[in-house]
Amino acid sequence: MPELCRTPEHQDAILDGECWKCRKESERLDAIAQFRAERSRRILDLLWDDGRGLQRREARAERERIPGLILEAIPGRFRAGHLEVGFGIGGGTGIGKTQAIAALLTEGLTHWSERVIVPSIQGQWDSRKDFPRVVWSSWPDEVHWLRSNAVNGAEERVERLAMAHLLVLDDLGRERLKGSYTEDWGASQLDHIINSRYRAELPTIWTTNVSQVDLVRLYGAATVRRLIEPNPLSWVTGLKPFNLPGRPA
Ligand SMILES: Nc1ncnc2c1ncn2[C@@H]1O[C@H](COP(=O)(O)OP(=O)(O)O)[C@@H](O)[C@H]1O
Ligand SMILES: [Mg+2]
Ligand SMILES: [Zn+2]
Repeated sequence: MPELCRTPEHQDAILDGECWKCRKESERLDAIAQFRAERSRRILDLLWDDGRGLQRREARAERERIPGLILEAIPGRFRAGHLEVGFGIGGGTGIGKTQAIAALLTEGLTHWSERVIVPSIQGQWDSRKDFPRVVWSSWPDEVHWLRSNAVNGAEERVERLAMAHLLVLDDLGRERLKGSYTEDWGASQLDHIINSRYRAELPTIWTTNVSQVDLVRLYGAATVRRLIEPNPLSWVTGLKPFNLPGRPA
């Protein structure tokens, strides 16, 4: 007679040629997997933020592919899934700064949401307040968006960035076109955001490929000090960009 179920304790659960205990268990695991997939999708939607936030491409970041030197530069508390940690990562373009933060942040949000007992993911979503207010801002895109929406939503958006529980400011300095109007206007928005966050003691995670000296030249010493003091910068050297030929995938 063929074996229907290998688990000895299930032998009383064979019905119509099938083990219903095993079926129940696999249905349960399917439901959990579905729940997790749905939650990841919604977390990414939250960070995507109508395109000014985390890009789809960035959302494919994998923790396993974060270079060791970048991982070392990130505070252990953030690597362990805590969301209320501010820091800066500087270094050349393409070395994996943005992807590292994206991978750890989505993981942190997932852990956070697993610690919270909710009846359903829909319930958690409907009452947004249950999600920590994490805002991802790709700064060059942000400046562009803010400028083209100066009369229509920009002020509200800037307040959102200023008051988020955790703000990611990605690629500071890349928006700068020397001597242009963008420069002063973007700098004054950044100034307001950083000062508000400094006063409210809210953490900011930021990346840049511009040296600290150049950041000071671009945004002024006071703003840079209020960014770096609570959110210390680690500059990563010795890494090659990911997309260079010959670099292991
Ligand atoms: N952890 C990762 N998982 C998957 N792909 C990665 C990862 N880190 C880097 N990459 C690849 O390298 C490219 C550059 O990484 P990125 O984080 O954008 O660099 P940076 O922000 O330092 O300029 C990405 O577009 C991606 O293709
Ligand atoms: Mg980047
Ligand atoms: Zn069974």
